[in-house]
Amino acid sequence: MSLRQKLHDFFTRREVAITGGGQKAIEKQVALGKLPARERIKFLLDPDTFHEYDLFVEHRCHDFGMDKKQLAADGVVTGTGKISGHPVCIFAQDFTVAGGSLGLMHARKITKIMDHAMKLGIPLIGINDSGGARIQEGVNSLAGYGEIFFRNTLASGVIPQISVILGPCAGGAVYSPALTDFVFVVDKISKMFITGPEVIKTVLGEEISMEELGGARVQTEISGNAHFYAESEQECFDQIKKLVTFIPWNNRKKADPFPAGSPRPGLDIETIIPPEPTKPYDVRSIIRAVCDDSDFFEVQKYWAANIVVGFARLAGETVGVIANQPLVLAGVLDVDSSDKAARFIRFCDAFNIPLVTFVDLPGYLPGVDQEHAGVIRHGAKVLYAYSEATVPKITVILRKAYGGGYIAMCSRHLGADFVFAWPTAEIAVMGPEGAANIIFKAEIASAEDPDAVRRAKVEEYTEKFANPYIAAANGHIDAVITPRETRDCLIHAIEISAAKHESRPSKKHGIPPF
Ligand code: HXC
Repeated sequence: MSLRQKLHDFFTRREVAITGGGQKAIEKQVALGKLPARERIKFLLDPDTFHEYDLFVEHRCHDFGMDKKQLAADGVVTGTGKISGHPVCIFAQDFTVAGGSLGLMHARKITKIMDHAMKLGIPLIGINDSGGARIQEGVNSLAGYGEIFFRNTLASGVIPQISVILGPCAGGAVYSPALTDFVFVVDKISKMFITGPEVIKTVLGEEISMEELGGARVQTEISGNAHFYAESEQECFDQIKKLVTFIPWNNRKKADPFPAGSPRPGLDIETIIPPEPTKPYDVRSIIRAVCDDSDFFEVQKYWAANIVVGFARLAGETVGVIANQPLVLAGVLDVDSSDKAARFIRFCDAFNIPLVTFVDLPGYLPGVDQEHAGVIRHGAKVLYAYSEATVPKITVILRKAYGGGYIAMCSRHLGADFVFAWPTAEIAVMGPEGAANIIFKAEIASAEDPDAVRRAKVEEYTEKFANPYIAAANGHIDAVITPRETRDCLIHAIEISAAKHESRPSKKHGIPPF
C-alpha cells in the first residue's frame, strides 16, 4: 500500500470510529437534548486542546452475537486537554455505542486515563452516560467497575476527581462518581440510581419515574449525592470550568493564584446582621462582602442549606469557606449539614486550600429524629475533619457560638490558627433562655411573677456571658474585630500562614466516624 492509500485507509477507519454508534443513534441522543460525547469534550475543553487516545480499542466479547458487533472506540472517548489553561485527563462515555455500557476494554480505557492522571498529577474528569455494566460481558464488566473503583480510591486526595452525569448512570456505575470529589448534574438529563424503576416495580410493586427516583433535582436537593446543578449541559460545563480555576492540579501544589480583586462596592458588612439576636440573615452576604470580587462559588447549594460551603478568593488565594446559615434552621448542625461540612473540609485539607469558617449557630439540632438518625456519629465528622486538617484554619465568630456548635465550628480547641470574634459574638454553653431556665429554675418557680424573673435572669445571663469578652479574656479567641476589619484580618492571616506546616501522629490512617 502506498502512503496515500495508507492515509486513506487511516482516515476511513478514524471516521468510522469517531462516528460512534452512527447517525441515527446520534440523532436520538440530540433529540433528548444531549450532546454527543466528543461534542461534550469539545465544549468543555479549551479550543483545540483535546488529544484523543485509544480510538481503535476493540471489545473482546464473543457471546450473544457480540463477535459480529463493532463498537466504535468501545463506547468511551478518552484523552487529555486543558480547561482555562489547566491540564486535565478526561473520559466521556458514548451512549450512542451500546448505550455507553461498560465492558472490559471500555473499563481498561478509563483505568488507563486514570493512571495517566495520577502519574501526571492532574485532575480527572469523567463524563458518565451509560446503561451500566455491559450485560453481554458478564463478570468482565463487573471486574472493570472494580478496577475503576480501586483507582478512584487511590486517587482520592491525590488528584481532584470530577464526575459529570449526563445521561443515565445506573447500577454499579453510580459508585465511581460517588467516590469522586464533585458530581455535576443537569436538569432532565442526569439520572442516577442503583436499581431502576423496573426493578423497583418488580421487587416492591411501586411505580416511579426515573426522574422522581434519581433525577438531577433529587440528587442535589434530597440525597446530596450531587454537588452542582445546572439547567443545561453548557451551564454545567461553565460550572466545571469555574471549579477547575479554584482548585490545584494535585495535592503537592496550591491552587493557582488569581489577580487580587476587591469586594463589590456598596456591600455594607456592618448592616448585614440584624440588631435582634434571633432574626435571621443570609450569611452569603457576609462572605460576598469580604471576598475578592464578591465571587463565592457555592458547593452543594441546594442540600443541607443550614450550612454553606464553597470556594472564594482572598487577595487572589483560593480559600474554602464554611459558614452556618442563620436563614435555614437557624444554622444548626444536623446529620446532613455535618456530612456536608466534613467532606468539604477534608477536600480543602487534602488540596492545600486554607479554611475560613464563619460561625453563627445555636448548636446541634435537638430531637428524636436527629438522635435516631445518628447525629452523634455524623456530628463527630465535623470535629474529626477540623481537628485532622493541617491547612491554615481561620475562624470568625459572627454571632451565636453556643455549646457543641462553638467547639465544632473550628474553635481554637480543634486547632484553629486564628480565631476572631465580632463584638456581636455570643459565646456560651447555651442560649440565654435555656441557660436561665436551668440555672435559675428554683428561683423562677418560686417567684411571684415567674415571667418577670425569667426575663430578668435571661438579661442577666446575656449581659454576663453572651459576648466575646470572656472568651477573649481566656485567650480562646485572638482578637475582637469590627466587621469592616474582617477582610484585612483574614488576608493577613492567610498571608502569614503561607509556610504553615503541622504534622500529626504517624499512623496508617485514622478511622473517621463514617
Ligand atoms: C448492554 C446496553 C446496556 C447494558 C443499554 N444497552 N444498557 N447494552 N449492556 N447495560 C444498549 C441497549 O441494548 C440499546 O442497544 C442501547 O444501549 C440503548 O439503550 P435503550 O434501552 O434503547 O435506551 P433508553 O431507552 O434510553 O434506556 C436507557 C437505559 C436502559 C435506562 C439505561 O438501556 C437500561 O435500563 N439499561 C440497563 C440498565 C442496567 O440495569 N444496567 C446494568 C446495571 S447492573 P441497541 O443495540 O438496541 O441500540 C450493574 C452492575 C455493576 O451495573 C455493579 C458494579 C459494582
